Amino acid sequence: MSNIERFTHVDELRESIKMASQNGLIGFVPTMGALHAGHLSLIDRALAECETVVLSIYVNPKQFNNAKDLEKYPRNIEADIQFLGDRKLLVFHPEYEDVYPDDFVAAKVDLGSLATVMEGKFRPGHFDGVVTVVSRLFDIVDPDRAYFGEKDYQQLAVIRRMTQIQNRNMTIVPCAITRETSGLAMSSRNMLLSREERQKATGIYAILHDGINHVSEMTPLELTAKLINNFGQQGFDLEYLSVTHPETLEQLSDHWVPGARVFVACFMGTVRLIDNIALC
Ligand code: PAF
Repeated sequence: MSNIERFTHVDELRESIKMASQNGLIGFVPTMGALHAGHLSLIDRALAECETVVLSIYVNPKQFNNAKDLEKYPRNIEADIQFLGDRKLLVFHPEYEDVYPDDFVAAKVDLGSLATVMEGKFRPGHFDGVVTVVSRLFDIVDPDRAYFGEKDYQQLAVIRRMTQIQNRNMTIVPCAITRETSGLAMSSRNMLLSREERQKATGIYAILHDGINHVSEMTPLELTAKLINNFGQQGFDLEYLSVTHPETLEQLSDHWVPGARVFVACFMGTVRLIDNIALC
């Protein structure tokens, strides 16, 4: 027998959460489905830390700046439910009108430069869409703890900022990237890769990781140039590569700061992949 309770409508979910909250902490893991081991690590951490865990599965059209990308985003709710095994979860898989009813008013949050660099620069409007849906989901679920993966590190920074600005009484829990043994960061988009593309994509982590070896002998700007060159030499179609401060995400030039990170976005055929690691 499955331990999963499924909800499409907001009112029914809220009723169950209200009852469950009397028993302890509510954890929340928002996803767009196409679940993989990376999602399971967030879910299992939430289950270990909270009495009740809500998992949302909703492909949010508002955060896609490219219609083709939205269209080909993998969706299979029944496979996702199966993949969850015997975990005890409240699974919320709403329709568009449940998330965005006619009288819906989107939250406006000034994210400053956090939303204009890297993903914000190359996917205009993406973070406005993320803020809109996560703010709405937070209003619905009202969790004590919400879990986000560091693979979308910039998203995590944006959600942290949003939560502060909106004065929400909850903890945002960052979760380390889950990687395949090849080093490839787990992503729902990986299932869109051909065998060759998947093989080549393992080079992303290898190049980033090699960067760590050069931190002591190069400035951030020099390392950026070197890594861009390495990606080029291995035939990657690079969109951006940036070495930044871990909190402000401002590009570093001459000096290293503790926790400095390198971020990359590249295309494998038509599939866009992102990754990031801490350099020091
Ligand atoms: O990271 C994701 O899967 C999505 O951006 C999120 C947080 C579920 C919002 O749609």
